[in-house]
Amino acid sequence: MRIDLEKAPVMVVGGPYSNLRATEAAMTEADRLGIPPSQVICTGDVVAYCAEPEETARVVVAWGCHVIQGNCEQQLAAGAADCACNFEDGSACDLLAKGWYPFASERISGEMRAWMGTLPTTLTFSLSGLDFRVIHGGMREVSRWVFDSQRELITEEARLAGSDIVIAGHCGLPFITRVGAGTWFNSGVLGMPANDGSTDVWYGLVTPDETGVVLSTHRLAYDHQGAAASMRRLGYANGYARTLVTGLWPSLDILPPQEASETGRRLRRRKLKVSSRSALLRSPNAATAFDAVS
Ligand SMILES: [Fe+2]
Repeated sequence: MRIDLEKAPVMVVGGPYSNLRATEAAMTEADRLGIPPSQVICTGDVVAYCAEPEETARVVVAWGCHVIQGNCEQQLAAGAADCACNFEDGSACDLLAKGWYPFASERISGEMRAWMGTLPTTLTFSLSGLDFRVIHGGMREVSRWVFDSQRELITEEARLAGSDIVIAGHCGLPFITRVGAGTWFNSGVLGMPANDGSTDVWYGLVTPDETGVVLSTHRLAYDHQGAAASMRRLGYANGYARTLVTGLWPSLDILPPQEASETGRRLRRRKLKVSSRSALLRSPNAATAFDAVS
């Protein structure tokens, strides 16, 4: 689905994951930044690990931002039996998913399932002379894990996307990386911390200027103790409740070796300037216009 955006900052939020407090914190942050819902894009997985699936879905609907389907929306809309994350049978992630998915599925209303079923699987838009495609996981597979260290995979996925910049979600870790002439931008997620030992969650910004855009990742502090307590109150204090207060994932099963080795290491914010082709042609410093600014 193609959307029109104003030439103004765009906020990107990944996986709210039934974390109502983190989602509300992101809405407050958008207000603080003066970003209206029409300039906010959610990359899917509104409902997953945390305690308030129905409440979080309703808050996102009320927010009125753009949302694409993640694997969780697709599975819940279809009334499926699991989250389709393709965790290995019996792995820690598989066992954890067998806890949260039925919990969420029991609590989500028919109205919210129907809303999930109406969401697009991808969005495209143009900003400052650059073409964007928004996806959840991978181009062909909604629950494909794509991490920063997987250069060949990112190159292939970016080629399939056919845009200057791919905005993706699903994997849970924020990163921005260039592959050939393209750029891959994962904003991280709202619903879980990024396995860096901090309880903060993450969002992204796309900030247009005269020659292109600046992509950036940002920390967001929120009431993580309240989110964990809410899980405990419901008798739902699984590994993900601990993650909310430790900032460490309950399992590293899905992580490539590089990302697994960075467990507990505080992530830095990232920022990257991407210039449009026309700006590069005009600029005498075209070769350096793609360089990271921090
Ligand atoms: Fe996902």
